[in-house]
Amino acid sequence: MAKIHNSIVDLIGNTPLLELSRYAEKHNLPARLIGKVEYFNPVGSIKDRIAWAIIDDAERKGELKPGQLIVDITSGNTGIALAAIAAARGYRAKFYLGDNTSPDKERIIRAFGADVVSVPNSLFLDPSALEQLFARAESENPGSFIANQLGNPVNPQKHYETTGPEIWADTDGQVDFLVGGVGTGGTVSGAGKYLKERNPDLKVIVIEPGESSLPSEDNVYPHEIDGVHKVDGIEAELLPDNYDIAIADEIVPVEADAGYATARELARTEGLLIGSSAGAIVNAATIIAARPENAGKTVVAVLPDTGERYLSVGVFDDPEA
Ligand SMILES: Cc1ncc(COP(=O)(O)O)c(C=O)c1O
Repeated sequence: MAKIHNSIVDLIGNTPLLELSRYAEKHNLPARLIGKVEYFNPVGSIKDRIAWAIIDDAERKGELKPGQLIVDITSGNTGIALAAIAAARGYRAKFYLGDNTSPDKERIIRAFGADVVSVPNSLFLDPSALEQLFARAESENPGSFIANQLGNPVNPQKHYETTGPEIWADTDGQVDFLVGGVGTGGTVSGAGKYLKERNPDLKVIVIEPGESSLPSEDNVYPHEIDGVHKVDGIEAELLPDNYDIAIADEIVPVEADAGYATARELARTEGLLIGSSAGAIVNAATIIAARPENAGKTVVAVLPDTGERYLSVGVFDDPEA
């Protein structure tokens, strides 16, 4: 029977699990280390899942009309996914994009015909500034649909319905650790909730940028881990609504340069080109998989996107070259 799909939205999800066997052997890891390779989504990142879920939900509720403008505040991948799906469904799109977003990501968003407004990334970290930015986005775009990935409950729900069950099914229920980063919190909160319901002993490991990878007065433009925020020691009201603070069993800080090095190493050992946050996530997953008490256990690391989005920020430039 012919198998021809009708829209890119039909190609979202069911991404593969890949055992990082050559890498694990090199590091003598006693646990199994597996990546969920989200760049297999049609627009190239995990955000395809929630972008489509948010648009689908709004269409069902009658909140989106043909030609309407979709607006969101994003550090990149959500804008890319929403821009592509908006194009495929006949909407326009506009994004308020943090000014530390990789130039590749901005170009991709524009390639799908969407508009971009650059805003200081610092606004994303200050809830009152973020609230003002949402108010600005609403007033500048009357009649638009605000996707609101940070607070829209459709985001974690989609990971509860797809990402979590896919990991459970593809490991035959043999999964002990889920490792991921927090942008909105949707991935770890939704997939983690599902997996903990199936296996109450499963542990969720959240990675966050180390101190030297956060902008400070002494280091205004550090190497950063795109799309991932600090969570440890941050007051609950300063964290995104879609992050369930009870979900993390352990928070592992990773410096950006260490995450970049892991991304380069995976390119060279596995032929897997993943983004900077995915590199940082594997770096933390390696720490978990290296613990002797975890021998024989299975660690699944969620790899949000492709490394092709970070070529211009130098993630793959070999410092030894
Ligand atoms: C590039 C990128 N996109 C998305 C995510 C996941 O973000 P969220 O917490 O919004 O599901 C991450 C987190 O690791 C990420 O690094």
